[in-house]
Amino acid sequence: MKKVYIETYGCQMNVNDSEVILSILQNDGYSLTENIEEADVILANTCSIRDNAEQRIWGRIDQFKIQKRNRDGVVIGIVGCMAERLKNELLKSVDLVAGPDSYRNLPALLAAIRPDSPQMDVLLSHEETYADITPVRLDKNGVSAFISIMRGCNNVCSYCVVPYTRGAERSRDPYTIVNEAQDLFSRGYKEVTLLGQNVDSYNWKDKEDPQKNVNFAALLRMVAQISPELRVRFSTSHPKDISDEVIYTMAEYENICKHIHLPVQSGSSIMLEKMRRKYNREWYLERVEKIRSVIPDCGLTTDVIAGFCGETDQDHQDTLTLMEKVVFDSAFMFAYSERPGTLASRKYPDDIPYEKKTERLNEIISLQGRMSLKSNEKEIGKVLKVLVEGPSKKNPQELCGRASSNKMCVFPSRGEKAGDYCLVKVESVTSATLICSRVD
Ligand code: 5AD
Ligand code: SF4
Repeated sequence: MKKVYIETYGCQMNVNDSEVILSILQNDGYSLTENIEEADVILANTCSIRDNAEQRIWGRIDQFKIQKRNRDGVVIGIVGCMAERLKNELLKSVDLVAGPDSYRNLPALLAAIRPDSPQMDVLLSHEETYADITPVRLDKNGVSAFISIMRGCNNVCSYCVVPYTRGAERSRDPYTIVNEAQDLFSRGYKEVTLLGQNVDSYNWKDKEDPQKNVNFAALLRMVAQISPELRVRFSTSHPKDISDEVIYTMAEYENICKHIHLPVQSGSSIMLEKMRRKYNREWYLERVEKIRSVIPDCGLTTDVIAGFCGETDQDHQDTLTLMEKVVFDSAFMFAYSERPGTLASRKYPDDIPYEKKTERLNEIISLQGRMSLKSNEKEIGKVLKVLVEGPSKKNPQELCGRASSNKMCVFPSRGEKAGDYCLVKVESVTSATLICSRVD
């Protein structure tokens, strides 16, 4: 039996793609190894979102080559977003290059590789959703799993490489999604996260009967109805598309987790326009108000980009004041990284000097630290239902798990195991964790 070793970079979507890849390769007789030194095939499932993500992969390729030198017949493959973006450039360094829509072809590609004949498939598809493939779960705890509900992206945010690496948006058949969730639940999983670049634009069209079309709110209901014991999460939402129907559906079902990841990117309407986000500061704040009026305790997290093209001090201040107004629970924060081929790279010079970008990013990070603490302090005294993930990293006598809002809680163990639900009371907080006692 041939052994495959897979490293995964980038987003949750990529983690799920690696699980699809493993499923396809297992069907072809491969088995997974976590030890690179015994691998026949070394795969990196890659990310192109920022330049540093790609630089890391180039470094890893050099390391993989050591394996190739030490042992005969080792194959190195680069798959995913960077494979799609760099194509032939990568093919000079590795044996296999496969884009996000060509994983079904991996067995054939691997079989065709010869020392002087590397293989590549970077065709993008309008249909591929891997709907019929049951991912082989790579998570260790058997509690929480990802389910891809769509692929690709039709929003052309000017800074973003994803529409080029993952192609056009397509929604997966909802009945296959529900089946996958049901199967996970019957195997003991307690939480599924529905994944898409923009879940709010999920829209599955029934070929015969338009009455049977399924939008994202309808899909959420279908998955939530599997069992009240199965928690449902989703990511990522787009501020321009998140509908009142989705917000009300979240409120209606206790098991749809009260957490929305709603990337704002910037608090300046001028920057948002240049980013082609199709909403402005006021629209974003209105969506937040709507969410909080319907779901008062809703967890809210975001993504922020510092130093986009032409960003003035005032634009930057607008981002800071928006963050202070919203008080996000947490945020992913990045310095703008120009990506070749994107609209921004063609239209706007990347003109904020590195030092300035870093200075602004640091200001954003430090403000978010204060906001995370402030947001957590509001939880003190509340009783929360937590899904146990396992022992806490710092103290094995304690357990950790997430509340519906996605906030991480630690609390004394009473012998529960991963996958059990516990009621806890928040006693004190840090900016990252809620420290809780037990409630009967
Ligand atoms: N530079 C910096 N950050 C980026 N992101 C996407 N493209 C870029 C880029 N070119 C960030 C956005 C997005 C998150 C996944 O990555 O904030 O929401
Ligand atoms: Fe995920 Fe985007 Fe990175 Fe691709 S480029 S792996 S879609 S974060």
